[in-house]
Amino acid sequence: MDRVYLDHAATTPVDPEVADAMTRVLRETHGNPSSIYAEGRAARAAVDRARDEVAAAINADPGEIVFTSGGTEADNLALRGAITARRDERDGLVTTAIEHHAVIDTARDLERHSRVRVDVIGVDRYGVVEPDAIRDAIRVRLYKGGHMPYLRPDSRRALALDAAQTYAAATHSAPAAAAPRQ
Ligand SMILES: Cc1ncc(COP(=O)(O)O)c(C=O)c1O
Repeated sequence: MDRVYLDHAATTPVDPEVADAMTRVLRETHGNPSSIYAEGRAARAAVDRARDEVAAAINADPGEIVFTSGGTEADNLALRGAITARRDERDGLVTTAIEHHAVIDTARDLERHSRVRVDVIGVDRYGVVEPDAIRDAIRVRLYKGGHMPYLRPDSRRALALDAAQTYAAATHSAPAAAAPRQ
């Protein structure tokens, strides 16, 4: 019986071209990219080149690309970073019931220890999240009033719509998400 591997969401075979590039770097580059001697500068150049290529592939600025050691670290950096960066204007997190534990558990930890309000949006029987549900969760939160005392009402509305549109673009329309940056 033929086996079909369906768990590419968790891990997927490495493209031979990628394996070759990684092997080359592992064999030829061993310097600490934060150091100033030649080996370090060579390692830094390789990391910077990779950063430029990833940024170009998704129409981002190289400065927006942060390499992490894996998914759990990336989820934590994104959630905790966003909450910290918007400390004065945040009202919490809206997430979905089908997120990886690295997301849900981090959200629950922020709820417990950093007083972040967490809304978990359900999905339909196909596992699809309805963008309107995200929009509604943000609106309910905003219009209950008083939850974002440092934002004027027009800013709150802009933030809600921006978040909902960003979510919709990212999940339902790859071309829009990859559109050239303004
Ligand atoms: C969204 C998400 N976060 C975290 C992980 C876990 O990644 P890692 O084992 O690299 O920490 C996965 C793995 O599938 C994932 O899909």
